[in-house]
Amino acid sequence: ERQYEHILTSLPSPGIALITLNRPKALNALSSPLFAELNEALAAFDADDGVRALVLTGSDRAFAAGADIKEMKDKEYSDVYQNRFIENWSRITHLRKPIIAAVSGYALGGGCELAMMCDIILASPTAVFGQPEVNIGIIPGAGGTQRLVRAIGKSRAMELVLTGRPFSAAEAAAWGLVSRVSEDVLADALALAGQIAGKGAVAAQAAKEAVNVAYEGSLAEGLRQERRLFHGMFATRDQKEGMAAFAEKRKPTWTHS
Ligand code: CAA
Repeated sequence: ERQYEHILTSLPSPGIALITLNRPKALNALSSPLFAELNEALAAFDADDGVRALVLTGSDRAFAAGADIKEMKDKEYSDVYQNRFIENWSRITHLRKPIIAAVSGYALGGGCELAMMCDIILASPTAVFGQPEVNIGIIPGAGGTQRLVRAIGKSRAMELVLTGRPFSAAEAAAWGLVSRVSEDVLADALALAGQIAGKGAVAAQAAKEAVNVAYEGSLAEGLRQERRLFHGMFATRDQKEGMAAFAEKRKPTWTHS
């Protein structure tokens, strides 16, 4: 079992992996060493057939307060450009398996962007979201300007990105950025992950892929890809089992194949 310095990993129940960001003194600021570990853990869980859903969380005080400003402050353009600074942050978006962000406290800048890279966000009432980059002379660099627009619409996203003002869990829920606000966000995220892990893994992963096509591309292309993935379901045992179980009025037994 790999021990990490900036994150904690566990398998809290069958089929579910939990990753906890763990740099409490820096409010889980997303440093390069932290992200290297996060990517390593994501790759390991994605390759583990026993894992069918993931949960990513932080502490009560902070999901993550953004990219590590102390690490960034002396960087030059030629350096960040040539070394593709933060390009490896998008590893999480290539996961086949569904991943839920359980957000308490600050989810600012890169923290908000990291949550938006997950498939579902659940927020505690204490969650504070925002893209405050403009306040330190930069712009969001890990998808904030793109994903926020798609999640909450252009006018709201523009206001938030241009002012950098934080927004609450209640606002995030009203606007559809988070699926719901939960008093016990980690327990609810784990329960939701359990529900997803209880489905056939091929169907769950194809469903995620299809929803992401809608999110990422045009409607016409999305409908084409959805149909192709839908047709592909008929090559799986879980489709036979799922439909047979319905017809026979019993619960399906998934083989995840
Ligand atoms: N990077 C590095 N360190 C950070 C940090 C960050 N993003 N956010 C907080 N910290 C550190 C603080 O420097 C402080 O460390 P010290 O004790 O060594 O001084 C510690 O975490 C605790 O923070 P505060 O004392 O500031 O705590 P607070 O309760 O007074 O304020 C806060 C909390 C409002 C979140 C405030 O820390 C803050 O504004 N943080 C920065 C938020 C931000 O601007 N994020 C965007 C970063 S840019 C980015 O993310 C780029 C991108 O798109 C990829």
